Amino acid sequence: MSSIWSRKDAHVHLAEMNYQAHANNGFDDVRLVHQSLTTVDIADVNLNTKIGTFDLEVPFFINAMTGGSPKTKIINQNLSRIAKECHLAMAVGSVSIALKHDDSEIRDSFTIVRKENPDGFIFSNIGAHHSLENAKRAVDLLQADALQVHLNIPQEIVMPEGDRAFSSWLHNIETLVQHLDVPVIVKEVGFGMSQETIQQLLDIGVTMIDVAGRGGTNFIQIENERREQEEFSYLYDWGQTTAESLLEAQPFLSQADFIASGGIRNPLDIIKAYSLGAKAVGLSGEILHQCLTQGNDATIATLLNWQEHLKKLMSLTGTKTIQELTKTKKVFSLELENWKKQRN
Ligand SMILES: Cc1cc2nc3c(=O)[nH]c(=O)nc-3n(C[C@H](O)[C@H](O)[C@H](O)COP(=O)(O)O)c2cc1C
Repeated sequence: MSSIWSRKDAHVHLAEMNYQAHANNGFDDVRLVHQSLTTVDIADVNLNTKIGTFDLEVPFFINAMTGGSPKTKIINQNLSRIAKECHLAMAVGSVSIALKHDDSEIRDSFTIVRKENPDGFIFSNIGAHHSLENAKRAVDLLQADALQVHLNIPQEIVMPEGDRAFSSWLHNIETLVQHLDVPVIVKEVGFGMSQETIQQLLDIGVTMIDVAGRGGTNFIQIENERREQEEFSYLYDWGQTTAESLLEAQPFLSQADFIASGGIRNPLDIIKAYSLGAKAVGLSGEILHQCLTQGNDATIATLLNWQEHLKKLMSLTGTKTIQELTKTKKVFSLELENWKKQRN
């Protein structure tokens, strides 16, 4: 069993080894224009956001990471305690391993999240090749409020043991969207999304999309470093940053709810993501890093403090509600403007 666990442990280890506080998520290419007067007092700011039918008290959440081994059970336990204390929604890592192996230790590494946080918003997570039956099992395992279906082709192709056939994924997702009792969130894993992908997802009825852009955790790098021969380092810059992905999403903002994730490091990134039309913001690597290096109490203190920072930044930008952030005046760098121009 330990060889099955080891991939899950290696992902956490390598994500943390490669953690960079200042990677390029594209948000440095977005500047919010400072206004010297505001009509909004900090006390009047409302941080609520709505994604699909979910009312989120806090506009950021813990995105999919882990589970599947004794070590990652402890991490999931810590993350779920943080989620509960800070009123954050939380996704677990792919539960495929628990569907494949009838093993109570593996199952517990995921179900601990529901046990710790019985009333929290919890999202389950599987790959796009899974059957409807597996998708239902993934939801049941956690009594999940939604199912995240991840798109991770770059990761699979770099992984020696990864999948090699992807052409059935779109049709498969359509089946899940049509027949599952909970909402489906389709997400990338840090390579961002394009207009073309978003259009394909809308065409099959997906209404919640997490663009999960480049600029934070890099699964080409993680899988490359797990290989005996590191052949894929030339691909480390593959994909759209989170800011570029949100630009790609612009034509579709009224047709789906977009989640921004990938490289989110601080409250300003969160505000910028909302200013570009996101309806929720997810963090993985940053919260993992805080949790592993500072422990639960310090992470909880930081994330509660971030909520106060968000209120201050919203007062600064003259926005009472998260939804109004799209009206914030922005200036793009030449590089981002160039992306926008060429991709319009
Ligand atoms: C250790 C680790 C494991 C992950 N495992 C999964 C997974 O099983 N399923 C998934 O959809 N995303 C997974 N992700 C990807 C994240 O959900 C997210 O899309 C990506 O890390 C980019 O966000 P970040 O830069 O904030 O980390 C994982 C991320 C980390 C750090």
